[in-house]
Amino acid sequence: MASTADSDLPSTPGPSAPRPLGDLVNVADFERRAAEVLEPGVHGYYAGGAGDERTLRENVAAFGRHRLRPRVLVDVSAVSAATTVLGSPVSMPLLVAPTALHRLAHPDGEPATARAAAAAGTIYTLSTLATSRPREVCAEAPRAPRWFQLYVLRDRAVSQALLDEAVECGFDAIVLTVDAPRAGRRERDVRTGFAVPADVEMPAIRAAVGAPTGPSPVQFFSLLDTSITWSDLERLCADCPLPVIVKGVHTAEDARLAADHGAAGVIVSNHGGRQLDGVPAALDMLPEVAEEVGDRVEVLMDGGVRRGTDVLVALALGAGAVLVGRPILWGLACGGEAGALRVLEILRAEVELGLTLLGAPTPADVEPSHVRAG
Ligand code: FNR
Ligand code: LAC
Repeated sequence: MASTADSDLPSTPGPSAPRPLGDLVNVADFERRAAEVLEPGVHGYYAGGAGDERTLRENVAAFGRHRLRPRVLVDVSAVSAATTVLGSPVSMPLLVAPTALHRLAHPDGEPATARAAAAAGTIYTLSTLATSRPREVCAEAPRAPRWFQLYVLRDRAVSQALLDEAVECGFDAIVLTVDAPRAGRRERDVRTGFAVPADVEMPAIRAAVGAPTGPSPVQFFSLLDTSITWSDLERLCADCPLPVIVKGVHTAEDARLAADHGAAGVIVSNHGGRQLDGVPAALDMLPEVAEEVGDRVEVLMDGGVRRGTDVLVALALGAGAVLVGRPILWGLACGGEAGALRVLEILRAEVELGLTLLGAPTPADVEPSHVRAG
């Protein structure tokens, strides 16, 4: 049980302590540092969104349009951010979203991120477009709840092999991403001519195209099976021994279909503004989804979460937990495993402080009345 003193917020190490992460005290600090240290093409790929990046900006802006309504004289002598997601205990209602190509942020790549998540007590989601395969991540990171994000490739044997490996290695859930039959038009990548360096392995691509190095992310999407429908989800849910979470749901209608076809959860997400530009902020789509299926399946959201107080807003609007994508990449870029861990620790401390000041001792105590629009 965490205490609730101000000192719970990780402080900047003193002058005599090693300061590999310097004065980075919040996610925005990591974001700025990452922009300095990353090669411009990689930074553009990580930071960028589709089209005019309206949705990318909206994801963040939507949190700023909500106000918290704290309750006072609530006993907050024993506050904890801990909760469970799909039955797995986690230290906070914030998980690591699947993001591609971690070795471009840091040579330690996905295993470093997985170790950071495990150390922070939360769930790591490994992307299909990772630079490590599921087996490697399991071998190199301690046992901790982790999920595998699946893209269904036209070559179904490749997807099946990845899925089988994830099941064998003890991953706890499959996250089926459904909002990316093609890559959104990411003009930063067009301008920089971003391509994955020849010495960076993408095991799924290697398996799919038989080449040691893969194409650019945009070309990667051309390997995907664009014909998949709800019946494929139903088959996956029936055949796969693990729970399946559908990522990339925008509407109540699709959330209902996902639940009807066997999904154990949905992630309200617009892929961090990287797919269809012009869709609303993920946060703005959350209430209708939570209302529609919140009593049947796990409702999660991602997109634009940068502060512990953002997490509180999402909980109040019906999310069981949120995921973060870019903040983890910024942490990895700034300091490998230690950087990713520090980002997670900062966010956990912010959530705990926020719960305390909101008068909600646990995530389950956060209610719709704790937030208002505008
Ligand atoms: C992603 N995202 C993503 N999603 C997915 O299902 N599979 C993937 O391989 C990737 N890859 C990826 C790469 C990069 C560089 C980014 C920024 C995002 C989307 C990701 O899971 C998540 O939906 C968003 O990142 C959430 O938004 P924030 O937290 O980045 O604002
Ligand atoms: C992306 C992928 C790989 O957004 O999902 O770049």
